[in-house]
Amino acid sequence: MYVCLCKGVTDSQIRTAAENGASIREIRDQLGVMTECGKCACLTKDIVRSSRQEPGAQDIFWAIA
Ligand code: FES
Repeated sequence: MYVCLCKGVTDSQIRTAAENGASIREIRDQLGVMTECGKCACLTKDIVRSSRQEPGAQDIFWAIA
């Protein structure tokens, strides 16, 4: 799915960069997201956060149980 229409960047490109340890600033510099209209900023940040997500509460529950 395209996240940034201005630069033609997809969610998988953003996710891959985040999983490889890139910061939001590095992703912006490398891929060009958030550098023109900025409408992709919220979704880009959500994708980065979800790519780095700690185990969810349910995962922690099952790890303890
Ligand atoms: S949609 Fe990403 S900068 Fe415009």
